[in-house]
Formats: sequence, structure tokens, C-alpha cells
Amino acid sequence: MNKGIELINLLHSEACERNKAPILEVLKKHLAQGETRVLEVGSGTGQHAEYFAQQLPKVHWQTADQHDYLMHLRERVKRAERANLQAPFELDVNGDDWLNKAASDTVLYDAVFTANTFHIMDSGAVENFFKGLSHRIKQHSVLFVYGPFRYAGEFTSESNAGFDLSLRSRGVGSAIREIEWIVGLAVDVGLTLIEDIAMPANNQCLVFKCE
Ligand SMILES: C[S@@+](CC[C@H](N)C(=O)[O-])C[C@H]1O[C@@H](n2cnc3c(N)ncnc32)[C@H](O)[C@@H]1O
Repeated sequence: MNKGIELINLLHSEACERNKAPILEVLKKHLAQGETRVLEVGSGTGQHAEYFAQQLPKVHWQTADQHDYLMHLRERVKRAERANLQAPFELDVNGDDWLNKAASDTVLYDAVFTANTFHIMDSGAVENFFKGLSHRIKQHSVLFVYGPFRYAGEFTSESNAGFDLSLRSRGVGSAIREIEWIVGLAVDVGLTLIEDIAMPANNQCLVFKCE
């Protein structure tokens, strides 16, 4: 048994605590009734995963993230002790396992959820998100994307404009994305934007469906 991890406080995001209930309402509206398989890309602290798995007992929630998040994420999933919350697998959207259709772990999901990832990833990674996604969705699959976006080049708030500047100053390609570009990438893999919901704190929840 790894004693070290028991002493570690789990990673925590205050923003997740604030936004999880409003996001849940969007999930409830668009997820199919009955048993549903959801993949989360970039689970981060795992707070969203834990809460949604608790609130949506028929949903089998698969967590996933890059290597650096896995130890804490795995521990949160373990402590949650929920049969419908799956331990994370390592997922880098730039990696072969995600991009390669023949990867051994390729599973078709009823829905894919990702929050606050597109403005962190560089633009090539966002494109790769959609490339890999195309191998994991089927007819009627739903994609949920939560985060800040720009519309026709305009930010939805002054604070998002400032946030964009601070993201760009990191020099790693992070930036608030244009909604038109995201919708175009989604259309290319057979997804249609069916709802764009304004959420608290100048974020949006985009809902796409595979027709
Ligand atoms: C700001 S955190 C958001 C975490 C969580 N979804 C939330 O809403 O709190 C950004 C997330 O994007 C993930 N991410 C960034 N680049 C990625 C990549 N190339 N592949 C997969 N995930 C990536 C990070 O690992 C991290 O989990």
C-alpha cells in the first residue's frame, strides 16, 4: 500500500465547486436516459467526475488526463468508491493512443465531456482533440465543452479579455478560442452544435450532437 498518497490533500479547484451544479443541469438535459458511457478529457482534480457520477448513477464516467494529474485523480476516484466512476487512463490528445484509430483501448462513447481545456491546449492540440474524438463517437453521441469562448472576435466580458492576455503571455499557445473555429472543427467530424448556453462567470457550455 502506498502510505504517501494517504497523506496528500487532493488537488482542489474552487471554480469546479461553483460551476458543477449548473453544468449538471446541462448534462441532465442532454444525456440519454438509461445506462450511458461518458469519457471526460482533462479531468484535472476529478471534482467534476466525482460529482457527476454521484448525481447521475446510470452514467459510467471514465476519467482521463495527462500524466501529471494521474496520481491525484486516481486517488480521488479511489476514495469516492463509486462503481460508476472509472479510474483514469493517461490521455494526451497529441499522443498516438488518442490519434490512432487502431489503438487497442478505442471505445465508442455515448458522450464526451471536457471542461476548461481548449484555452489551455495550444491550437494544434485542440485540432487533435477533434481528430481523436472522431474515432470515439457514434451516431447520437453528445459532446459537451465547457469554458470561455470568443464570438466574432469579441470576448464575452472584460475579465475574459484580460484572462486571454494572461494566457497568451505564458507563451505556450494557450488562448481563449473562437467559437466559429471550434464549431468548424466539430462539423468536420460530423458534430452539429445543438445548444450554446451562457454559464456563470462568463463561461459557455457548448453541446454538440453526432447526427
Ligand atoms: C485548467 S485544467 C481544467 C481541469 C478540469 N477539467 C476543470 O475544469 O477543472 C486544464 C486541463 O486540460 C488538460 N490538458 C491540457 N493539455 C492537454 C492535452 N494535450 N491532452 C489532454 N489533456 C490536456 C490538463 O491536463 C488539465 O487537466
